Amino acid sequence: MRILLLTHSFNSLAQRLFCELGARGHQLSIEFDIADSVSEEAVALFKPELLIAPFLKRAIPETIWRTTPCLIVHPGIEGDRGPSALDWAIQRERTEWGVTVLQAEAEMDAGPVWASATFPLRLAKKSSLYRNEVTEAAVRAVLLAVERFAGGEFVPYRVAGAEQPLMRQADRALDWTTMGSAEILARINAADGFPGVADAWFGTPCHLFDAWPEAHLRGTPGSLLARREHALCRATADGSLWVGHIKRAGGIKLPATQAFPEALALPEQPLAGWWQADDPTWQDITYREENHHGRSVGFLDWRFYNGAMSTAQCRRLSEAFRWATTRPTQVIVLGGDGDFWSNGIHLNTIEAAASPADESWANINAIDDLAEAILTCSTQLTVAALAGNAGAGGCFLARACDQVWVRDGVLLNPHYKNMGNLFGSEFWTYLLPPRVGADGAAAIMRHRLPMTAAEAVACGFYDACLASADFTGEVARRAGALAASPDLHGQLAAKVEKRAADEAAKPLAAYRAEELAEMQRNFYGFDPSYHVARYHFVAKSPHSWTPRHLARHRDLDWIVPA
Ligand code: COA
Repeated sequence: MRILLLTHSFNSLAQRLFCELGARGHQLSIEFDIADSVSEEAVALFKPELLIAPFLKRAIPETIWRTTPCLIVHPGIEGDRGPSALDWAIQRERTEWGVTVLQAEAEMDAGPVWASATFPLRLAKKSSLYRNEVTEAAVRAVLLAVERFAGGEFVPYRVAGAEQPLMRQADRALDWTTMGSAEILARINAADGFPGVADAWFGTPCHLFDAWPEAHLRGTPGSLLARREHALCRATADGSLWVGHIKRAGGIKLPATQAFPEALALPEQPLAGWWQADDPTWQDITYREENHHGRSVGFLDWRFYNGAMSTAQCRRLSEAFRWATTRPTQVIVLGGDGDFWSNGIHLNTIEAAASPADESWANINAIDDLAEAILTCSTQLTVAALAGNAGAGGCFLARACDQVWVRDGVLLNPHYKNMGNLFGSEFWTYLLPPRVGADGAAAIMRHRLPMTAAEAVACGFYDACLASADFTGEVARRAGALAASPDLHGQLAAKVEKRAADEAAKPLAAYRAEELAEMQRNFYGFDPSYHVARYHFVAKSPHSWTPRHLARHRDLDWIVPA
């Protein structure tokens, strides 16, 4: 079928549906929901048999839904209506939630239902639920709805429901002196990603994100107790919580101590090392070991908000990795449990820096140092375990490991050009071509399209796509088997030999210097595209056009279907 995706942005859900529908042979094009007239034009040019709206912030114009069947993906169970579906479900501590695919009509979310899917509601951030459970349920429901639509016999059914209002800041309001930690955590979770919970810190209005439980710290309810790296701990009525990210009024979302540098005066509560703490606390880098028949696997995991890796985080992770290589293990597994594996350098901390060009330079060097440490590790086999999505430099950082195992359902964006024509580094010029060929590498970089886990393995970029159900368990089993394999020493020797041969052919330093020469032009050159693109990305400027590589109906050689 010819299917038009009408969406506010090409977010992870829209990308996933694009990949899944494309893999089933549908002809797809995308239009961003910018203005009714632009959407009408897209429909006129593409003449879709079906329009799917994965992520909209406004209603589809009547001129479109009257003439073209339009399916809306609503992140709520059947009968649920309104713009804050997930927020209410999380804040009301529902134990099960779902996604409904319904046909657009005059009344929002009230049209007949084509399909739905449900899932258990985890205690987690809204953004995490959206990228995991909601996305998986949406894929199931959309594919079923499309199949039913194509079959021509299914009659969508009406479900009685009630409109839930937009959740306002008054509904989310916090009182740190009277509310317990669980309630405040649920409220910040329900607003995570967007819009955050309005509060006032250091007498300044701000929005809070990225809350973590804390088991031990106590103090006068409402008072700020401590800091650790960039996170701040505040006392609640019955304990305390950490807050990792804050957006000051009129500002951008930043690590908490960068949003409020005055917080650096708070007492520091460092952790002793990288070992995973026994009780809940803020710990963005953790290490643990598992033993298998006398062999050991080290698991180095991190939870960096939104997968963004700042200069400081890259340096700390490099330090943790180097320390992990000194442990008596045979295999080191990197990542594995976070929402994102990595989205590359931290564009928000760069944007907020006194010199974004200098900070970009420091950040790309810090992430390259980490990639180099992984690439040159000669003491263990390394595995990147991608439980969550990865983008840009994050995709190549993973490829620096000897093996890359990726969860089925993970979405990858292994290209840089969307960020103002950025050339990219992280040794991609060394890592990508041998896997997919020079032409394949050029095509991936040029097309700037998302790739599913299965596609990444099929084209040779990554090594294994593992089922979603028990990804962490399967990674542990495979890593244990790798550590216990009889030819482990042979594998390690082969890896060291290959690295030496590659180094002799062309040193890593040469790849790095070539990539960084291009990046230096991106950061300091006369073309400001990267700085402009970063500003709009961080400021979340609304789109004013759909990029040509997505809006295929706007291709010059597009022939309007009869
Ligand atoms: N630095 C800072 N923040 C980042 C980031 C980065 N590198 N990558 C993603 N984010 C943030 C987004 O701003 C968004 O923030 P929010 O919590 O305020 O909504 C959040 O992470 C999720 O990103 P979003 O774009 O909504 O997720 P997605 O899954 O739809 O898309 C990507 C994923 C990777 C395609 C997209 O985020 C992206 O292009 N990121 C930039 C990658 C990049 O160019 N890195 C620099 C070069 S190495």
